[in-house]
Amino acid sequence: MKAKIAVIGAGLMGHGIAQIFAAAGHKVALHDPDAKILGSAKDRIAAIFALLELDPAGMAGISYESDFGAAVADADFVFEAGPEKPEVKRAIFKNLGEKTKPGAILCTNTSAIPIGQIGEEVADKSRVVGTHYWNPPHLVPLVEVVQAKDTSLATVEKTIVLLRDVGKSPVHVRRDIPGFIGNRLQHAMKREAIALVADGVCDAETLDTVVKEGFGARLAVLGPLEQSDLVGVNLTLDIHKTLITHLDRTPGPHPYLIELVEKGHLGMSTGHGFRDWTPQQAAEVRKRLSDFLVQSARMLNQKKKR
Ligand code: NAI
Repeated sequence: MKAKIAVIGAGLMGHGIAQIFAAAGHKVALHDPDAKILGSAKDRIAAIFALLELDPAGMAGISYESDFGAAVADADFVFEAGPEKPEVKRAIFKNLGEKTKPGAILCTNTSAIPIGQIGEEVADKSRVVGTHYWNPPHLVPLVEVVQAKDTSLATVEKTIVLLRDVGKSPVHVRRDIPGFIGNRLQHAMKREAIALVADGVCDAETLDTVVKEGFGARLAVLGPLEQSDLVGVNLTLDIHKTLITHLDRTPGPHPYLIELVEKGHLGMSTGHGFRDWTPQQAAEVRKRLSDFLVQSARMLNQKKKR
């Protein structure tokens, strides 16, 4: 059965989230208070349909609503992708609690704010849940479905069924913890990566090569725990006995990272970060990433059609 979807916020994440549901045949109401952003959403969504070689007829299911109440009144599911500011998200959810029909499921795409805090002013908190998509949401399959203290299991299950139905890979995160699962893993690795470079063990380019050409080459098909089971859990224990005490344990952000930011070395945008970047090199990295993700998404779409 097709659900009625509302997406709040038509920025980088919101327009991609709207596209996912429209492409799967759901009715979508997309809202943004910024007329310019809402006005440009149709073209940005059309670009995704073209990129993924999808039938643009799917776009007809999207309405563009400047009125918040009109966008959400009928919705079975609302996906909030507004700014990452606690007070803004709390106000949006208070409004959602009042303007949606009872039982409508209220999802937030927050990266880091506790789900419980965002839904604090919703009377029925059992219907508030985290749905953490990854950028770009229309290309990366994973969605972390985060159960807060008051979220009902029924809400989690219905959300997972909906996301699976539109071709995403939803996973159940059983606790509302900072960073959920994916960002904790990603930043555990970044912590060690930064320490290795700061300690002079290698330069940033070498570090990235080790990941991309080493264990990264198999990560998309073999998770770290699968890999441990493959080679033997006892081997992981033996390695940990030698290695664990040597891993970085700097409390707080690493001074090397703080220094980069203080110097204005923000990365590709400023030409300097962990490495130096010309505009052409930065464009090549963006193209490489986009080509890879588009190719993977097209392959997934082909598989679904079969
Ligand atoms: P964005 O800045 O591109 O989009 C936010 C949109 O919200 C803007 O279009 C803005 O006009 C709109 N907005 C402002 N006030 C609003 C209000 N009161 N009600 C409704 N909409 C409002 O931000 P982006 O990157 O799309 O992020 C959205 C959410 O997704 C944030 O919570 C972010 O942390 C999260 N997220 C972002 C990822 C990323 O890589 N950009 C990845 C995963 C999650």
